[in-house]
This record gives sequence, structure tokens and C-alpha cells, in this order.
Amino acid sequence: MTKNHFITFEGIDGSGKSTQAKILVEKLQSLNIETLFLREPGGTSISEEIRSVLLNNREDEMSSRSEALLMCASRAQLTKDIISPALKAGKWIIADRYADSTLAYQGGGRGLNLDWLIKLNQFATYGIEPNLTFYIDIEPEVGFQRRKGLSSDRIESAGLDFQNDIRQKYLEIVDNFGDRCVIIDGNLSVDEISNYIWNVTRDRTLDEII
Ligand code: ADP
Ligand code: TYD
Repeated sequence: MTKNHFITFEGIDGSGKSTQAKILVEKLQSLNIETLFLREPGGTSISEEIRSVLLNNREDEMSSRSEALLMCASRAQLTKDIISPALKAGKWIIADRYADSTLAYQGGGRGLNLDWLIKLNQFATYGIEPNLTFYIDIEPEVGFQRRKGLSSDRIESAGLDFQNDIRQKYLEIVDNFGDRCVIIDGNLSVDEISNYIWNVTRDRTLDEII
């Protein structure tokens, strides 16, 4: 069986995931490796519609269970339509967030039962797991500072305590899935982080890239 190349980026809002994910995609593409860049929630027309429902600021409160189910609905569509066929075709996938975000945000942030969320994720992902996950760790205060001046969606508006709970859950996840997850100090410079990410990616897939 050939190995999948499915790499995810995780972290709280403003940790630098999108910046780093894009740098890795460009690097792989410059080596002529066919690579897709995805971000969650979203990525198919149905998933983008679900994204609007999830992230639009609104008057009425969305229940945490609805939030978890919608995140997973978006993920199921993306996995079936894009991720699964691309991996089967031997393409690389770099994703800005995937199933760990649901454990961290809806589990850690909203306090939903983790066993349910793990089951829900298995259902939504068709059992597909990333091979490598970069978790970029920063303090919520740093994330807020970096995002100053940018508009905030419904989830980003939830405050520092919420981001702290999410961060704690991420740290637990990284502890539990040490083989797959690599923790990175998000206070380092963009270049330091991207060099480190590239070294890890190369080391883990050495024979295939070079
Ligand atoms: P995320 O996708 O995790 O929300 P972004 O990659 O969009 O985070 O970065 C949030 C902001 O922080 C952007 O303005 C980006 O330029 C900046 N940024 C990203 N990485 C770093 C870093 N290592 N040091 C300082 N600022 C950074
Ligand atoms: P996005 O604008 O993509 O934020 P970021 O650039 O920080 O990734 O918004 C996605 C938001 O949705 C973000 O606040 C995290 C949240 N989210 C969850 O709560 N659960 C999930 O399963 C996923 C994928 C995202």
C-alpha cells in the first residue's frame, strides 16, 4: 500500500497556521509535487455554504452540538469529494485545520464530550487520518495582538478564556498523538518556523521528496 501524504496545520486563531501552510504548499509545488491546499470549514460548494452558517455573526445563539455537527458535515463533504480521491491519486494534501480542530474547539472550547466527538470525526473522515500534524503553539494574547484590526467571525469573537481552553485541549491532543503531531513554538519568526517545518517534512518523507 502506498503511503498517503496528508499534512494538517492546527492551532488557535492567529497562531500562524495559514502563513505556514501556504509556505509549505509553495515549496512542494516548486518541486513539482502535485499538492492541494485546503482549509476548514469549507473547500467544496456545500462545505462553503456550511462555513457561512457556522461563521457568520448572528443574533441567535448556535448550540454547541449544532456547531460540532456542522463542522463535521463540512468535513464529510470535503473528505468524500476532494481528500479521498486526491490521496488515492497520489497527490499531497496540506490542510489548514482538520479533525483535531473539532476536538480542540468543540471539545476544549465548548466542553462537549470528547468520546462523542472522536466518533463523529471517524464518521466524517471515513477513517482517513493525517500522516503529519503541525501544531503551532502560541498564547491567546499573542493571537489577539496579531489579529488586531482584522474582523472577527462568530467563533473568533468568543474571547480569551475560550482560546485558552482550546489551547489546553490542543496540548492534550499533541501529548496523546505524539507520533503524528509535531509541536512548534509559534513565537519564533516566520522563517524559523517554515525552515523547521520543511526539515521535519523532508525527514519524514525523505526518500519520496529528494
Ligand atoms: P492563523 O491562520 O493561525 O489564524 P495567520 O497565518 O493568518 O494565522 O497569521 C495571523 C497574523 O499573524 C498574520 O497577520 C500573519 O502575518 C502574522 N504572523 C504569522 N506568523 C507569524 C510569526 N511567526 N510571527 C509574527 N507574526 C506572524
Ligand atoms: P478561519 O477564518 O478559517 O480561522 P483560522 O484562520 O484561525 O483557521 O475560521 C475557522 C474558525 O472555525 C476558527 O475559529 C476555528 C473554528 N473551527 C472549529 O471551531 N471547529 C472545527 O472543527 C474547525 C475546522 C474550525
